[in-house]
Amino acid sequence: MRTQVCIVGGGPSGLLLAQLCHVAGIDAVVLERRKREHVLARIRAGVLEQGLLRLLEEAKVPTRMDSHGYPHDGTVLSFADGEVRIDFRAHTETPVMVYGQTEVTRDLYEARDATGGVTLHEVEDVEIGNADLEGDAGCTVSFTHDGTRKEIACDYVAGCDGFHGVSRQNIPVEKRQEFERIYPFGWLGILSETPPVHHELIYANSAHGFALCSMRNESLSRYYVQCPLTDKVEGWSDEAFWDELRRRIPARHAETLVTGPSIEKSIAPLRSFVCEPMQYGRLFLAGDAAHIVPPTGAKGLNTAASDVHYLFQALKARYQEADSAALATYSETALRRVWKTQRFSWWMTKLLHRFPDTDEYELRIQRAEIEHLATTPAAQATLAINYVGLPY
Ligand code: APR
Ligand code: PHB
Repeated sequence: MRTQVCIVGGGPSGLLLAQLCHVAGIDAVVLERRKREHVLARIRAGVLEQGLLRLLEEAKVPTRMDSHGYPHDGTVLSFADGEVRIDFRAHTETPVMVYGQTEVTRDLYEARDATGGVTLHEVEDVEIGNADLEGDAGCTVSFTHDGTRKEIACDYVAGCDGFHGVSRQNIPVEKRQEFERIYPFGWLGILSETPPVHHELIYANSAHGFALCSMRNESLSRYYVQCPLTDKVEGWSDEAFWDELRRRIPARHAETLVTGPSIEKSIAPLRSFVCEPMQYGRLFLAGDAAHIVPPTGAKGLNTAASDVHYLFQALKARYQEADSAALATYSETALRRVWKTQRFSWWMTKLLHRFPDTDEYELRIQRAEIEHLATTPAAQATLAINYVGLPY
């Protein structure tokens, strides 16, 4: 088999890149380790930046955004003694779109089906060969599929295989630097068929820890509470979850919160991670394969999308204008924006959570930061600009 770009990983990054390539007439094959149903069963954040929406349009992906998406003009941050509404429209003239990542992935799969492009599922033992070769010789991706070993010859490999993928490991250790923060808590999240407690998201900093009120639609809510990493999902009954959530959000919302049985419940650890560089020879990393953010700023998928944008622009220049300059500088270009979203996600996490080792000094600093934010429009503008998404 031969293709121009072999995409390892059929998550949102890989699928979006495949779709953009298709529209530009660049041939691509997608290799995914899991079954499609498995990929579509993952529940992840649901706040999309305009940049991602524009990319979906550019990729000609029909979405159900018009009927099933919710543009949000602001978000609420709540604290022990009050609330601040961050007005996206006032500060940036840009809303964000609340639309589940699972829906985005489903839309991308349907668009991929319509193109007739090759997407292989349940692919095992992916190995990338000759990634380091310069010049005209291409590289190879070999893998096991349907019990047989196969090989694809390609010009480039896009490593879109997420944090636990193999692509990143193909950058030799001595050429790779990894930067990481592990946070000393997790998020316990539930999905419930209940109306959202408020029409906008509420990020709550409380003495009992962080909580987030989010949503998927008028009758489907997503809530989270910060919890110790040692907690087990089985140890959290629905009642215990609702009680904890009520303790952490403003009283007026706690009083009107509609509860019900959870239809999904899980605990996710929080991590910040960046791999530098994001390219090695003919291999280019995009999305979670290269970086992870804690979910506090809703930047995971959105940052993956900005990588895909830069990588696609570079591939387009290479194939349509025989210009490889942007491919050569892809890592530098992508990393500049990656680090800004790292900073924002880290900052939001520090601002809103209770760290187990926080002393009184740091608590006072956190309180001062909150007061500054609550009383300073310029600080609110900075938050809004980052939350709705920095320009590509
Ligand atoms: N071979 C083939 N596929 C693989 C391999 C492998 N060795 N390892 C992992 N994969 C697949 C995974 O099964 C998964 O479907 O790669 C895909 C990676 O998808 P994601 O982890 O979703 O990463 P990405 O596509 O970069 O999406 C960005 O945004 O909100 C965040 O973390 C969230 O998924 C999200 C991300
Ligand atoms: C979600 O809806 O799951 C969600 C929203 C915003 C975040 C994180 C998760 O910051």
